Amino acid sequence: MFILGIETSCDDTGIAVYHTTRGLLSHALYSQTAMHSDYGGVVPELASRDHIRRVLPLVKQTLSEASLELKSLNAIAYTQGPGLAGALLVGSSFAAALSFALKIPAIGIHHLEGHLLSPLLSTNAPLFPFVALLVSGGHTQLMEVHGVGRYKLLGETVDDAAGEAFDKTAKLLGLSYPGGPAISILADKFSKSGKVSSFTLPRPMLHSGNLNFSFSGLKTAVLTLSNKHKITQEIQEEIAYAFQEAVVDVLTQKSMAALTQTGLNQLVVAGGVSANCQLRKNLSKYAEKIGATVFYPSHEFCTDNGAMIALAGAMRLQEKPQLSTNSFTVKPRWDLEAHEMLSNE
Ligand code: KG4
Ligand code: ZN
Repeated sequence: MFILGIETSCDDTGIAVYHTTRGLLSHALYSQTAMHSDYGGVVPELASRDHIRRVLPLVKQTLSEASLELKSLNAIAYTQGPGLAGALLVGSSFAAALSFALKIPAIGIHHLEGHLLSPLLSTNAPLFPFVALLVSGGHTQLMEVHGVGRYKLLGETVDDAAGEAFDKTAKLLGLSYPGGPAISILADKFSKSGKVSSFTLPRPMLHSGNLNFSFSGLKTAVLTLSNKHKITQEIQEEIAYAFQEAVVDVLTQKSMAALTQTGLNQLVVAGGVSANCQLRKNLSKYAEKIGATVFYPSHEFCTDNGAMIALAGAMRLQEKPQLSTNSFTVKPRWDLEAHEMLSNE
């Protein structure tokens, strides 16, 4: 079966064609980062309008790269939520119209399910069950995953998401949006300089006794630190380093605790922050110590993309071939754990 994947939940238009036995055939992405960077964050209305401009040309491009015609498609998978309502509506209405015209099913996919399954696009893919650390701009969660749609929430952030903390800290330091890559470049420079940082930032909720996170205090600590110093290039690098160390430390220790608590030995890390090299290095180092293996999506599938949505659609269709919502509804707020309940409504 050929499945078209459509991702329009935030500021990336991602389109892909996935085949249930041949795997990913083509994918294309248009990132709106440059358009939003002048505003220091995503402007929802601009995002929706840009998705409208990009969806059709990208669908044509991916079909042509896969040497397919529209009529060869067997199903459409689109991001139904969570995300920006207007942006989600672009993908869902496009999917609904195409599904109606081609008389094929359209399946609404949970954006985080897409991220969570994205390491399965790699050749070295994990087998169920595993623990998943989802770290994106909007979410930070630890999940126990037993199969498609079989998710148990182990812990999550009580305030800011990890990616959001990177973005807000970058803004405080006068860096460009999105903040994650900008902070990690500065932190790497500091690390390579061989200097030792005199800044120690808090590790929020490290000893909370549960698997929840909190990142808003860390951002306040960065604000206090940056108010105390004249912001030079060196200070920017040192603060970025101290901030990244604190986030990586907390994410690593909580992930190891989740593996120990569940007795599982595979950790999947997904979402935009999983692109962070220091996080990858640290997680792999500590996982090895407890005999666990860490799986990541390839770099191009860490941030939002259509391939993960097409894959999630394919896996859901294989479980329930008659599955189709053909509805026009979007779910800007949507718990992944409640996915089954909602999708059976
Ligand atoms: O998954 P994603 O593309 O979108 C959401 O679903 O939110 O994640 C975007 C987030 C942003 O907050 C961005 O700053 C962060 O991922 N990010 C990073 C890196 N690359 C992207 N954070 C840390 N290090 C990176 N290299
Ligand atoms: Zn995402």
